[in-house]
Formats: sequence, structure tokens, C-alpha cells
Amino acid sequence: MSPMVSLREFARGLTPGSRLKEAEREVERLRRRAKSDQQEGNELARELKRAQRVTQKLRARVAALEDELLDSRVPEHVAATVRRVRAEHLTYLALPHLSTLARAVLDIEADGVPGALVEAGTARGGSAIVMAAAKSPARPMYVYDVFDQIPPPSDRDGADVHERYATIADGRARGVGGELYYGYRDDLYAEVSESFTRLGVPPETSSVQLVKGLFQDTIDLDEPIALAHLDGDWYDSTMTCLERIAPLISPGGRIVLDDYYAWSGCREAVDDYLAARPGFRREARGRLHLVRED
Ligand SMILES: C[S@@+](CC[C@H](N)C(=O)[O-])C[C@H]1O[C@@H](n2cnc3c(N)ncnc32)[C@H](O)[C@@H]1O
Repeated sequence: MSPMVSLREFARGLTPGSRLKEAEREVERLRRRAKSDQQEGNELARELKRAQRVTQKLRARVAALEDELLDSRVPEHVAATVRRVRAEHLTYLALPHLSTLARAVLDIEADGVPGALVEAGTARGGSAIVMAAAKSPARPMYVYDVFDQIPPPSDRDGADVHERYATIADGRARGVGGELYYGYRDDLYAEVSESFTRLGVPPETSSVQLVKGLFQDTIDLDEPIALAHLDGDWYDSTMTCLERIAPLISPGGRIVLDDYYAWSGCREAVDDYLAARPGFRREARGRLHLVRED
């Protein structure tokens, strides 16, 4: 006899009164279950709120510690510039990375490492402005960017990069702090130039040159470089910078790679470049630093 047949027979054997009782018991059972589910749900919601409060407090504590650290690492005018570029959403770099970058420039000054500073990949200018504030006014600095939408990646970049580029090309990218993405702005070059001036390092009086165009067309240096901050995201952009800048780095000077731990193409480019050329020591300082050995 199949189980279906026995169930039907069982139901047929119930009187209307016993069916009603069965149904009432089932309703009661479901009501109790719903109540306990709701209690469990309320408890989970309370736990979630508690966790959110703890996370908020921890975030605030981390921010306060980062702030304190900034003050202990760099002079006040540089710390003030770091805070302003963050507050004005002029940079993608988090505060500890800006403070490490500023510290690296200050160390170059203190150690008397000869040569210019370079930033390749500046977007709204934040990290370059911090570098300019940390350097001595006489030291030349070159800031390279297309000052437009970032050029497309190549087949040397991975899926992560191509996905990001699709978002940018479709007009779906959002800027820092929810502002208009830098690549969709009308005159980024003028904006960046004004930001340098507004933040106390006018290009004309700070020995800073903003150079508009593709790295491939514009980077053509023939002088010692003390420190280069490379922040061009993709393989070809990074490789071009390494090929044209790394041979010029002064002993004791360094290259700071913003994207080595972030984008596959940058990582590949650095590893490819270094595989064929010794003479640089790797230092992990939140970002990858390549220090030119003496
Ligand atoms: C991540 S953003 C730079 C962020 C900036 N350093 C900051 O403080 O937020 C990368 C910049 O590199 C530029 N870029 C990438 N590849 C380039 C290339 N081959 N030539 C010129 N500019 C390039 C992009 O247009 C963009 O402005």
C-alpha cells in the first residue's frame, strides 16, 4: 500500500470535529513558531545594532589614531594640506598612505637626495598637492596626467581592470565622496591647477609643472629623479613610467607604486619590469616602494 493511499484513508477516517481540532492545533503550532521566529528576529536586529555601534566607535578611534599619527610624522603645514585634500575629496589615497607619501618626500629632502619629483597619474591632484607641500619650493616637480578620461587598459590587464574600465566608459563611475568622477569633468587641468594654488602651492612659484597628455607622449625626462609617485592604474601606463623614470632614480631615491596591491595590470608591469632589472629593493609601506640601491 502506497503512503498516499494510507494518508487519504486516514483523512477519510477523521470526523469533521476531529479535523477541526487538528486544524486548530496546527494553527496554534504555527502561531507559536511565528512568535519565536519574531523574537529571534528582534534579538538579531538588536545584535546587529550593537555591532554597528561598536564598528562606528572603532572607526572613529582608528580615524583619531590616524590623525594623531599624521601629526607625529609630518610638520603642521603638510598635515594641514593632507587634511584639506581629503576634506575636499581631491584624492583617492587614504590618510595613512598620504602621510607615508609625504614622509617619503620629507625624507628625500632631509637626506639631500638629488633630483626632481614626479607624479604620473594625478586625477584631481590630491596626492601631488601633498607632495608639493612637503618638498622644498626650489625642487622641480613634474605632474603628468591626461587630465581627461583614463585611457583604456590593454590585454595585459586582468578582468578586475576591464570591469572597472567598463564602469568608467559607461558613465557609471562615481567620484570620491560621491562627487562627479574626475574623468567626466569639463576642464580637469584648470581645476587641478587652481587646486594647487588654493592649497598654498601655486605651480608657478612652487617649481611645479603640470603636463597634459598620455604618459606615452609626454614623459621624456633626462635628469635625476629623487622620488616618483606612479598612480596610473593599468599595465601600459605603469610600464611606460617605469621604463622612462626608473633608470633616472638617484641612489637612495624611490618609486612609490600606488596600485601594486590594487590592480592586476600594475602588479604585472612592476614584476615584469623588475624581473629584468636589478638595483631596486622592495619595501612594503602600505604601498609598494622601490628603493634605488646605491
Ligand atoms: C587613480 S587616478 C590618480 C589618483 C591621484 N593620484 C589621487 O591622489 O587621487 C589615475 C590617473 O592616471 C591617469 N592616467 C592613467 N594612465 C594614463 C596614461 N597612460 N597617460 C596619462 N594619464 C594616465 C588617469 O587619467 C587618472 O587621472
